[in-house]
Amino acid sequence: MKLIAPSVLSADFGHLADDLEMINRSEADWLHIDVMDGTFVPNISFGFPLMEPMRQYCTKPLDVHLMIVHPEKYVERFCDAGAWSVGFHLEAVEDPMPILDLIKAKGVRTCLTINPDIDVQRLVPYLDQVDMVLLMSVFAGFGGQKFIPKTMDKIRFIRQEIDRRGLNTLIEIDGGVNTRNAAELFAAGADVLVAGSAVFGADDPEEAIRKMKDEG
Ligand code: DX5
Ligand code: ZN
Repeated sequence: MKLIAPSVLSADFGHLADDLEMINRSEADWLHIDVMDGTFVPNISFGFPLMEPMRQYCTKPLDVHLMIVHPEKYVERFCDAGAWSVGFHLEAVEDPMPILDLIKAKGVRTCLTINPDIDVQRLVPYLDQVDMVLLMSVFAGFGGQKFIPKTMDKIRFIRQEIDRRGLNTLIEIDGGVNTRNAAELFAAGADVLVAGSAVFGADDPEEAIRKMKDEG
């Protein structure tokens, strides 16, 4: 699958409705929503108050990426707030299974995420328990960082594992994705590319989305 999920973190919050309309018109598949708590990551983004306008104005599925401690406290509220999928960090929790169950019980898709310094092997036991795994290709916390090249091998490894076991689990990549590396990422086995600054910082964001998707 070749899906593009622009990250609203890089949108213009003073003109959020305009940016969401652009996303609606574009070939983007999902809207990626980065929630940061200032504790799991050294940055604070936004929370529930923005879920409502995004659900209201955005016609694309909302792909929520929680960069927070204690995701078990909040996953259900994000499901109720209109998330299409909810992901949290494996390294933020002791046991992801009960939290995945909370999300599944809401009928929402699940995603497990790891930062670049977490061994990709740790995702393997959960590949058949989640709808998607998200490999961070920068350290979570900020948009506009440089893609970490070692991510390529991790994508290939997880792709192989998913294919070997005949699973449908999607692989999402987040951080430093742009029109120049999108094709290579898809070729390595990624299914979903998140792009913040490469979309909202582009002169023509719709064209940037189209390029990443069609040339990928
Ligand atoms: C980083 C976030 C990313 C971020 C990506 O912590 O998870 O989704 O918005 O931004 P770019 O595409 O600019 O690297
Ligand atoms: Zn993200």
